[in-house]
Amino acid sequence: MPYTPELKKLMKVVEKTRPARVQRKKKGLEFSAIPVDDRQKILKKYHPDFKSGNRRKIRVGPSKGYSISHEVVDLLEAHSRVDPKKIDLSRVAYETDVLVIGGGGAGASAALLAQESGAGVLLATKLRMGDANTMMAEGGIQAATKRGKDSPYYHYLDVIGGGHFSNDPKLVSTLVLEAPKVMGWLEKMGTMFSKFPDGTLKTMHGGGTSRKRMHYAGEITGAEIMRTLRDEVKNRPENIKIIEFSPAVELVLTNKGQCAGAILYNLETEEYFVVHAKATVLATGGSGRLHMQGYMTTNHYGATGDGLILGYRAGVKLRFLHSVQYHPTGAVFPEQAEGLLITEKFRGAGANLVNVDGEQFVYEREPRDVEAAAVIRECSPDRGKGVPTPTGKFGVWLDSPMIELLQGPGTVKREFPGKCILFRRYEIDISKEPMLVHPTLHYQNGGLEIDESCQTSVPGLFVAGEVSGGVHGENRLMGNSLLDVTVFGRIAGENAARYSRAKSPRGKPTLEHVIRYNRELEKAGVKTDRIAPMLLPDYSNPEVRKRQLTTQYQGTLR
Ligand code: FUM
Repeated sequence: MPYTPELKKLMKVVEKTRPARVQRKKKGLEFSAIPVDDRQKILKKYHPDFKSGNRRKIRVGPSKGYSISHEVVDLLEAHSRVDPKKIDLSRVAYETDVLVIGGGGAGASAALLAQESGAGVLLATKLRMGDANTMMAEGGIQAATKRGKDSPYYHYLDVIGGGHFSNDPKLVSTLVLEAPKVMGWLEKMGTMFSKFPDGTLKTMHGGGTSRKRMHYAGEITGAEIMRTLRDEVKNRPENIKIIEFSPAVELVLTNKGQCAGAILYNLETEEYFVVHAKATVLATGGSGRLHMQGYMTTNHYGATGDGLILGYRAGVKLRFLHSVQYHPTGAVFPEQAEGLLITEKFRGAGANLVNVDGEQFVYEREPRDVEAAAVIRECSPDRGKGVPTPTGKFGVWLDSPMIELLQGPGTVKREFPGKCILFRRYEIDISKEPMLVHPTLHYQNGGLEIDESCQTSVPGLFVAGEVSGGVHGENRLMGNSLLDVTVFGRIAGENAARYSRAKSPRGKPTLEHVIRYNRELEKAGVKTDRIAPMLLPDYSNPEVRKRQLTTQYQGTLR
């Protein structure tokens, strides 16, 4: 749907203020950043994490009493998809050294390093190999590769500052110190990052970064990285077996408490089957498709938090799961594109966020949570400065045409070809017309507890990527998720392979932990017919569909 006459009229206001805003930027007169002390105020008032009633305490399991989103608690307090008494664990479909669960960036990196460390690997994935949030990441990957101008030290400070000083320092150290090495690894495998004619890597700023260390591959950085990783995994068929359309539905533990593999579910034949593994890597990604608080999402179809459920039932604690990331700029018009990620790179390239009166209302490179809160504030009834959409929602303008005036004609088409094509379908030319945006559910900041070797409290169970928690604290900065999946995916794979070689005595496989969990649910008085993991969102259910298509827009129509 092209912009309506009403929106075109409102757009004139943005056009009117644009030349002055461009002039200010050209002179280096940036909009004032929100003082650090005031960040908490705006977050508490407007960020969805702080909305009262949005959470409740988990009544069972290792993090009992921890208060997190209802949508996740609903699944943690659900029953297993399998009846432990009906599963014959001695009927093993596959035996492997290392089982990797998840076919995104973390799973692929883990599989590669486990294989290079001498292990036989089986990689099982819910949908196709590469169907993951990694594929959908656009903006970039952070790494302090520019010696002299940057170092892992500054990267560390930025990550910790962005996470409100709550991050696990050891995980952050690992992330930033491994980053330059990972960039070299990816390049060597063929990832085509954007470069200057002399071959040096292009870098730019992201929200909350003190140095330009965001490396990118156009606006499809995640897809380019995933392409490389997937090709590399597929090129090693003798040592890495891939099983697609087979999500894990339960982990198998031994009677000594070690992880011994998983029960997988064949989506096609609807059969369960057992994989025995000496070590297991859980790399199942995030949970955006749970549509917390009814938000639209940027996430891929399979992001239903499955790994959280599996790891938690097996006894792994949760960290930072009370904090959810809402990307400041998701498309809110046209309706068909709702929730779609409009990369932070637009703001990095100079586009302002502008309200209905054509005013810039926030510095465009605040840390994500602060930026998102500022957009929600603008659209709130107390401010009343949101731009109304034809379906009664509100957004703000992302003034992409500014980029043309700042960096020269043709820049938008050159740097953001995918978005140009997408919006052109709706007869919108984003090099001339701004986009309408609103925060969209983007990332699970927390997850299962790990140490720097990706080991969990369950021996033989390693966790990597978005399903883990700690490295980003309460707020991840742009470009650190592609880094997280590759850095910790590699570490998990390497350590899982090492663990699989250890001669320590292993116990007998059981599903006792599931029986115990069921008992705990009963004892806590949890009465539910829900089963988890969810595997796929059910948009045929009107309640779920409503969540996908509506966001928490407040305010009155102007
Ligand atoms: O804005 C973006 O391109 C998103 C990047 C990220 O989440 O790291």
